[in-house]
Amino acid sequence: MPAKLIDGKAIAATIRSEIKTEVDAMRAAHHRVPGLATVLVGARKDSQTYVRMKKKACAEVGITSFGHDLPADTSQEALLAVVRDLNANPEVDGILVQLPLPDHIDDEEILGAVSLEKDVDGFHPLNIGRLSMKRRDPLFVPCTPKGCIELLDRMAVEIQGKRAVVLGRSNIVGLPVAMLLLHRNATVTICHSRTRDLPEVVRSAEILIAAVGRAEMVKQDWVQPGAVVIDVGVNAVDDPASEKGYRLVGDVAFDEVKEVASAITPVPGGVGPMTIAMLLRNTLDSAQRRLT
Ligand code: GUN
Repeated sequence: MPAKLIDGKAIAATIRSEIKTEVDAMRAAHHRVPGLATVLVGARKDSQTYVRMKKKACAEVGITSFGHDLPADTSQEALLAVVRDLNANPEVDGILVQLPLPDHIDDEEILGAVSLEKDVDGFHPLNIGRLSMKRRDPLFVPCTPKGCIELLDRMAVEIQGKRAVVLGRSNIVGLPVAMLLLHRNATVTICHSRTRDLPEVVRSAEILIAAVGRAEMVKQDWVQPGAVVIDVGVNAVDDPASEKGYRLVGDVAFDEVKEVASAITPVPGGVGPMTIAMLLRNTLDSAQRRLT
C-alpha cells in the first residue's frame, strides 16, 4: 500500500494561521508586533531565495522584518557591528544570520555574538550546548530540526521507544534533530556517507530523517516496510523538460520509497515550509518572552 503523504505545505499553513492569530492578539493587547531581522552577506542565489521567502512569510502573519543585505566583501568587524546593533534594537525580537557565510568570515564568532534572547535560529553555541545535554532547555531550537519533530507530532507519529535513524550529521540539521529525537526517547542512530553497510543501517529505521544532501540516495530497499520517512534534502537535478532546466528532489527516491513507507514527506512541500513556520514560531515566542 502506498504511503500517506505528509503534507508539510498544508501543516505549515495551519501553523502560520495559528501564529497570525497570536500576533493579532499581541497587537491588540500591547500595541506591538514581533520583529525579525535577517542578515544576508553576499549574493548566493539560494540564500537570497530563502531570505526572501522568510520575509514574505513574516509579512503574511504580521511580523515586521528588517532586512540587512550586505556585500560579499563585508568584513568580520562590520558584520559584528550589524549584529550588535540588532542586539540593542528593542524592535528586533529575532536575529537570523543566513548561512553559509563567505569563507573569510568566522561564523562561529558571528553566531556567538547574537544575543541569546534573540537567537531564533538556535545556532548560538550556548543554545546548541543546552540542546546537547539532558534537562537543559535551550531558549530556541533550530528551525529545520524543530519542523521535522512538529511534522511527526502533527501526524500523530509516536516517537518514544522507536528506532530513529538520522542520515547526515550537519550542524544545521543532522546533529540537532538527533538530539531532539533522543530527548523524545527514541533510540537514535546517526549515520553518514562513511558509515559501513549504510543501506542496512538505514533499513533499521522506524523513523528515518534523511538530511545528507545527495539527490535520491535512499532507495526502496534501504527502507523497511512501514517506516515514516522525513526527507530534508533539497537537491537540484538537471531536467531539460522543465522551464528552469532543473527540478528539486530530496535525498530519498520518492516514487519508489513511497511504495514501502507508511508515511513520507514530498520535496518540495514537505520540510521546507516547516522550517519557515518554525522561524515565525521562534520569533513570536521571543517577542512574547520579552513582553513578560
Ligand atoms: N542555511 C540553511 N538553513 C539555514 C537555516 O535554517 N538558518 C540559517 N540562518 N541559514 C540556513
